[in-house]
Amino acid sequence: MTALRILCPREHTATDEYIAEAAAILRNGGLVAFPTETVYGLGARFDCPEAVRRLFAAKGRPADNPLIAHISHPKQLTELVAEMTPLEERLMLTFWPGPLTLVLPKTEAVPALITGGLATIGVRMPAHDIALALITATGRPIVAPSANLSGRPSPTTAKHVAQDLGECIDALVDGGETRLGLESTVVQVRGKVIYILRPGSITREMLVEETGLAVQGGTATSEEPQDTPLAPGMKYKHYAPRAAVIVYEGQAVSDIAAEIEGDPKDLAVIAFRDTLAALPECVARFTLGERGQADTAAKKLYAYLREIDDLGLMRVLVEGIAPIGLGEAVMNRLYKAATQVKGR
Ligand code: TXA
Ligand code: MG
Repeated sequence: MTALRILCPREHTATDEYIAEAAAILRNGGLVAFPTETVYGLGARFDCPEAVRRLFAAKGRPADNPLIAHISHPKQLTELVAEMTPLEERLMLTFWPGPLTLVLPKTEAVPALITGGLATIGVRMPAHDIALALITATGRPIVAPSANLSGRPSPTTAKHVAQDLGECIDALVDGGETRLGLESTVVQVRGKVIYILRPGSITREMLVEETGLAVQGGTATSEEPQDTPLAPGMKYKHYAPRAAVIVYEGQAVSDIAAEIEGDPKDLAVIAFRDTLAALPECVARFTLGERGQADTAAKKLYAYLREIDDLGLMRVLVEGIAPIGLGEAVMNRLYKAATQVKGR
């Protein structure tokens, strides 16, 4: 095993020298973690089965959980995707580069290893200079799951990646903190319905506004109808820190205050600014910013959960947000991390 090579682009922008080195490692079948606008990804050449096998092993990822292929130009779709409808093309043109993964019929050239045996492949074009330059320099689509150990919160900084995977990957491109902080929205079009398989920053409202079509699936609760398609990865307990996560819905201040007063030991709170201001002093606190706005929650949630683990705290109380707009993705991840949901 070689030592981890950390590549630090100046000002976190794509620099030829670093990109060339990272691309050479990928081309030779290595594993390179790199930033995207959502979270850090762990990249491998899509057409190098050895590298893909190593990638699954490094993450401890179940073999039936398919990988997303990342491209830097639509022409790279030809070797990945068998066909696209006008509606899918429209979604691509509107939201790429950006945090939208389209699940499309795959070509024969895509190894079953990547898709967990499915006949479809998830594809996206990330909105990040380093990611785009790296894919272009490698000259091949790059498969990249989030660069965390399976079951841990996705990494939003290079330090998170090094903590989880430092010993089993070849290089890590440090692009600073990621802009959005939650993974991409995964969608699949079936006839005239768009199914959200995993909610993200491209929201249900944005998809409805763009297409005028029905958008189903992806509700923040776990009570999906039986026949709604789900991303295979969503069935696994996910995004979980070591600390027990207790999520509060609705008016939470007095309930959280009572919990703190009952047993303040080993406890952290993640809540909106006004809630934090009304709580007793004695706990580790992490702000979600202004009430009603989900962007800080999306950007910081995973980093907070990791920091709480680093502090060795055993319980974290999290104030929920309305599951509309970006709030839907935030609540989806919180429910998956939760040991308990209160106030339902
Ligand atoms: O923002 C992101 O999507 C990040 C960055 C690195 O691009 N990547 C990411 O990958 O979150 P990963 O592997 O951690 O999550 C991919 C999700 C999983 O839930 C997986 O089951 C689903 O997408 N997925 C991938 N291919 C699929 C397919 N063909 N059909 C249905 N779901 C699929
Ligand atoms: Mg992941």
